[in-house]
Parts: sequence; structure tokens; C-alpha cells
Amino acid sequence: MHIDRFERYWIIIIAAVLGAFFAALVAGAVIFGIRLPSTPDSFINPLGLSETEFANPGIYPSLTEDNVYDAYIVARMWRFDIGSDEKDELGNDIIRLPVGARVNIYVTSADVTHGFLIERHNVNVQIIPGHVGQTTVVFREPGTYRLLCHEYCGRGHQQMHSTFIIEEE
Ligand code: CUA
Repeated sequence: MHIDRFERYWIIIIAAVLGAFFAALVAGAVIFGIRLPSTPDSFINPLGLSETEFANPGIYPSLTEDNVYDAYIVARMWRFDIGSDEKDELGNDIIRLPVGARVNIYVTSADVTHGFLIERHNVNVQIIPGHVGQTTVVFREPGTYRLLCHEYCGRGHQQMHSTFIIEEE
């Protein structure tokens, strides 16, 4: 079969580029351990949350480190259950933390897929029922930051938010 010289060059270039992409993919996964951000850290039965660490949602101070917290949060139609006694006018949780607080967040859903975004912080998680999402946030500046569901989850989606109030010590 005759292949024109320039056509042959292009075939070689394309094969080399595809090969480089594939090698980068394999190197990223094997050497650098890069995973898709949606890869869950663990699985859970969304109908049996009462028998898990999500039975009592809340923000728990670390026993060993100062100003470090573990947060267990359940997203449900249409609120975030963070275990706070303080509520806004819609009944959504208000969380108060001192400035500099580092919060290790574990979040799951009791029903449908929700979003989890804390404004002005690098937190953006998709909450899938049956999966536990994990992320960490550090509140370096005092202020009021909303936690928003940014994935459409039904007729109450637009009222699904909570508030973090970060206070000076
Ligand atoms: Cu939950 Cu939108």
C-alpha cells in the first residue's frame, strides 16, 4: 500500500502525541497517585446513616490539636445537617468557629445528589448518596461564608445553604 510521505509524517506525529498523552495518564495515576476528584474516600449505606459516624452530625474539636475540627455533615433535601443549635430564618444551620480553624469535612447524602461549596474557599464537592466525600478547609480570615448546594436537587434547592461565621478570637 502506498502512503504519501507527508501523510506518513502526520501519522507518526499523531501516534507520538497520542502515545505521550497516554503515557502522561499512566504516569499520573501510577507515579503521582492522581485520582478523579469524584473518587469517593469510602462507601456507605445512605439508608442506614443512623448506624454510622453520621448518626450525630456535628463539628467536633480534635482531641489532640488546637483549633482543628472534624465535621460530619449530612446533606438532605433541602438542608445541610451540621448539628448546630443556631439556625437562620430558614432553619438552616449557622456554625461559629474561631479564625484559623481547620476543619476536616466528611460529608454524605441521605437522599439525592447534592453539591457542597464554601464561598471564597477551595471547597467544591459533589455529594453522591452512598459515597463519603472528604475535604479540608482552613478559615484564615474572619467573616461570613455561605455553604451552598450548587447542584440542582429538587424544588427546595435554592434554599439549601448554611452559614459559617468566622470570628476573631
Ligand atoms: Cu441540594 Cu441543591
